[in-house]
Amino acid sequence: MSAGAIDPAVVDELTEIVGQAHVLSDPEITASYSIDWTRRFAGSTPLVVRPADTAETAAAMGVLAAARIAVVPQGGNTGLVGGSVPLAGEAVLSMRRLDVCEAVDELASQVTVGAGVTLADAQIHAAAAGLSVGVDLAARESATIGGMVATNAGGINVLRYGAMRAQVVGIEAVLADGMIVSHLAGLEKDNTGYDLGSLLAGSEGTLGVITRVRLRLHPLQPERATALLAFETAQDAVAAAAALRRSVGSLHALEAVFDSAMALVSAHLGVDPPVGSLSSGSRNASGAAWLIAEAAARTDPSDELGTAVDEIADLLIDAAVALDPPARQRLWAFRENVTEAISAAGIPHKLDVTLPAARLAEFVDGVADVVRMADSDAQPLLFGHLGDGNVHVNVLGPGGAEPAEEVDDAVLRYVAELGGSISAEHGIGTAKLGQLHLNRTEAELAAFSAIKRALDPEGLLNPHVLLP
Ligand code: FAD
Ligand code: MLT
Ligand code: ZN
Repeated sequence: MSAGAIDPAVVDELTEIVGQAHVLSDPEITASYSIDWTRRFAGSTPLVVRPADTAETAAAMGVLAAARIAVVPQGGNTGLVGGSVPLAGEAVLSMRRLDVCEAVDELASQVTVGAGVTLADAQIHAAAAGLSVGVDLAARESATIGGMVATNAGGINVLRYGAMRAQVVGIEAVLADGMIVSHLAGLEKDNTGYDLGSLLAGSEGTLGVITRVRLRLHPLQPERATALLAFETAQDAVAAAAALRRSVGSLHALEAVFDSAMALVSAHLGVDPPVGSLSSGSRNASGAAWLIAEAAARTDPSDELGTAVDEIADLLIDAAVALDPPARQRLWAFRENVTEAISAAGIPHKLDVTLPAARLAEFVDGVADVVRMADSDAQPLLFGHLGDGNVHVNVLGPGGAEPAEEVDDAVLRYVAELGGSISAEHGIGTAKLGQLHLNRTEAELAAFSAIKRALDPEGLLNPHVLLP
């Protein structure tokens, strides 16, 4: 749809609400709002509207609803399932200007922030009060709190604090018709009916536009110890991960990088991992495996982590432990830069799945064959949040091209057969619409549709996302 396809009176009304500078229709300017981070999902939009606060969001939604214009809410546009971009000519409602961090409530250990506040800014704001945000992820400089709630983002600390839904103690949102719902008192005990914060967490912009979020904060854990552990097999890594979860009370992150992903990120960084050996040019997904285990506490946790690592010595090839921030960062680089290394190599299909602990090693060993049966030229790259059973299966085609579409279906069916989830933390978006039925019954999907109809009867909010 071109800008011209929108009634000029609607554009005038929107301009009146948010100001001329914040209604964008020049295709050169709107292009960056229309392509996702991976470059796999690209569309176009007649209009990007950038409200500054809840009142402007509500007024803009009222105008768009009256004109029956479909809307894609967008935060930092770091989503990885094609849910944040206008693929069918929708308008984009960019929430990035809602960037106010209110004063930290130190008595309650909570803070209310605008939906457009980046995770990094929320972290800095919380840290100034000696507190931390419970979710952390590598896209922290761009991902917004609103987008993170909308996707129920996970990241590296889920094993300690839960995913984004668990951080939400209050929510404010604008519904499809422009109505504002606000429940931000943040009472820990509040049994007064449906929990709209929980419902909106993971709703991927289909039920409401989140404008403010009240977050539960956690004590800062400034003392850290980080270990990079190398294993010969995925099975050993999975066994070690289970042992570390049992024995390290201060365990803060437990991440994995498997063979071919480690080869790629090492080449990208120009540094080999300090422990373990790369099978050079490996096209195997698994084989060798690395874990990053981080312990964090108010007092030095290095003894606790060191003792636990000694206890799993028979599973390990070798271990490197780091305590000071630069040395720890050098170990983390092998995990935090995997996504960037893959994107530098091409346009991957990103399959983000969880397996039951008992099937995890079998999946890691078996998935490469499943990928190759669907596309013999495709290269699987595996990494993820092993402490949560969450494996990221990224698949590149030859020369960095996209692999065959059949790969996605084959891998996700394999996951469902093993009793896993086809989306651990990124959501369904448009990428996995066709496979949602693998995890959800017809009755559940009917209930989803009924909720959608109740809150968005005209189907204006992200109409091509999440619901088949
Ligand atoms: P967007 O990408 O803008 O939007 C994502 C979805 O939320 C869309 O459906 C959109 O319509 C909806 N949405 C956005 N804002 C709102 C709002 N205010 N109200 C209603 N709906 C809204 N994800 C993880 O879970 N764990 C990770 O470890 C992780 N690491 C990442 C690392 C990198 C390098 C990158 C690029 C991405 C990573 N992601 C990760 C994915 C991404 O950062 C998360 O999905 C994040 O939550 C998206 O936030 P965003 O503000 O960019 O949302
Ligand atoms: C990660 O854990 O690094 C992210 O979820 C991003 C990705 O899957 O690429
Ligand atoms: Zn992840």
